[in-house]
Amino acid sequence: MPEDRLSHLEKLRRKALEGGGPERVAKQHAAGKLTARERITLLADEGSFDEIDAFVEHSATHFGMASKKFPGDGVVTGFARIDGRAVALFAQDFTVLGGSLGLAHARKICKIQDMALKLGIPVIGLCDSGGARIQEGVESLGGYADIFLRNTLSSGVVPQISAILGPCAGGAVYSPAITDFVFMVQGTSYMFVTGPNVIKEVTHEKVSFEDLGGAAVHNEKSGVAHFAAKDEGECLRQIRELLSYLPPNNMEEPPLVPTGDDPTRREAKLNALVPDNPQKPYDMKEAIHAVFDNGGFFEVHRDFAKNILVGFARLNGRPVGVVAQQPAHLAGCLDIDSSVKGARFIRFCDAFNIPLVAFEDVPGFLPGVAQEHGGIIRAGAKLLYAWCEATVPRITVITRKAYGGAYDVMNSKHIRGDFNFAWPTAEIAVMGPEGAVNIIFKEEIEASRDPRKTREQLIDEYRTKFANPYIAAQKGYIDDVIEPADTRRRLVKALELLKTKRDRNPPKKHGNIPL
Ligand code: HXC
Repeated sequence: MPEDRLSHLEKLRRKALEGGGPERVAKQHAAGKLTARERITLLADEGSFDEIDAFVEHSATHFGMASKKFPGDGVVTGFARIDGRAVALFAQDFTVLGGSLGLAHARKICKIQDMALKLGIPVIGLCDSGGARIQEGVESLGGYADIFLRNTLSSGVVPQISAILGPCAGGAVYSPAITDFVFMVQGTSYMFVTGPNVIKEVTHEKVSFEDLGGAAVHNEKSGVAHFAAKDEGECLRQIRELLSYLPPNNMEEPPLVPTGDDPTRREAKLNALVPDNPQKPYDMKEAIHAVFDNGGFFEVHRDFAKNILVGFARLNGRPVGVVAQQPAHLAGCLDIDSSVKGARFIRFCDAFNIPLVAFEDVPGFLPGVAQEHGGIIRAGAKLLYAWCEATVPRITVITRKAYGGAYDVMNSKHIRGDFNFAWPTAEIAVMGPEGAVNIIFKEEIEASRDPRKTREQLIDEYRTKFANPYIAAQKGYIDDVIEPADTRRRLVKALELLKTKRDRNPPKKHGNIPL
């Protein structure tokens, strides 16, 4: 081959690698952000990234665009390996036309999405973009719609992960919002549909970018984001860790990773975890860390709706999704946010063959006008629906309260829980002793000479009779009452048995989850 052909290729490639040029790169660094290629280097296994479409350029001509061409058109796309497993990825390059999305840019992303779906591998999007490329008009909007469609068709087939590493505004937010997990970085990333300036004009509210749509807001308040990292390095490490729990697609099992943790390990301290006083909180994370392999728990949505805990862990090397009440927050009540948080996580696990383990201590749904008017009925129904339709292996451990509708909702036997265990501290009843006594012994209490004393006696009687796991166990609603210290061994054995579980839902186009 003539030397000049090779040098020409080399020259073109060098140009593509330059992105928007040294000045723009310096500006990007000064803003505390990495470039698209630096991010990929941190995310992927060393030397594993193979870029495609590095020479793609836009063909827009309006507004002087004919002279503003950059090879790659503001997005780096290709395939890489993470812990040796293949992924498809795209990384928007803010140094090129602000990472704005025109037709060519969108087509590159669509190509990656199409290939990922065909190959059955996860898609990771690193977003850093000024949004629709204004000069390309409706073609940019069409490009976004093409991406949204592919996000939706890929949902439940391959895991889709979005990292927001800069601006993500307007309709552009809807691609990450459809994906399974959204990562953000404190201080440098933000998401909103309408920005501070428009809001000021329309509603006269004054708000900063960070307060409107920064990482804290979306992790703590809106629940749009699942993870907040202190910097980009941490964010990319979190993505690698998340992937270690996931199968590449919905037809495969999640990866088994030997952890060396003894499957029969006893944890004596669990026998003392639940306080004697049923009104006292405790930290459910202690149970989770004690039971799963090497104390590992990769928490999802850590800062949102803290009354429910969701995340991934391993049990004798097998990934599981954990859904647990947190009595240390709002007494572990189910409310609107925690129901939605739980439902979405359960549906993800079910779509990707990840068994579910529930730790239950739920006094009921959170009372209040705001909750009722905010739609706790609809939100609670989502959680119920998600559990009911899940066909993956499902195990429940009731540690303390399982009251009212919440007993049914939280993976009860009646809605296809496979193994339902209770600790001896479990209280399974229609409602707590105080409420129950007020209703069923109202007249008796009022007529007594010392209503307070009578009420207390009746509460004690009720607690002895009903606030325990044995009535449910007598009826077979609980498969066994187990010693807390023995929980790990029992869960490992149950999960082992459930490896051959086969269950399916009636054929349908799709259900109609109460959205
Ligand atoms: C074309 C854009 C652009 C865009 C930024 N740039 N956004 N070019 N279309 N949407 C260009 C800038 O002109 C500039 O180029 C370069 O990118 C860097 O931008 P700066 O403004 O210098 O950067 P910064 O100060 O960091 O501000 C970033 C920014 C701002 C906040 C994102 O650029 C901005 O407000 N952009 C417009 C955002 C927007 O309104 N997008 C449309 C949203 S609606 P030069 O060459 O001049 O330096 C949308 C609809 C999607 O996206 C609909 C889907 C259904």
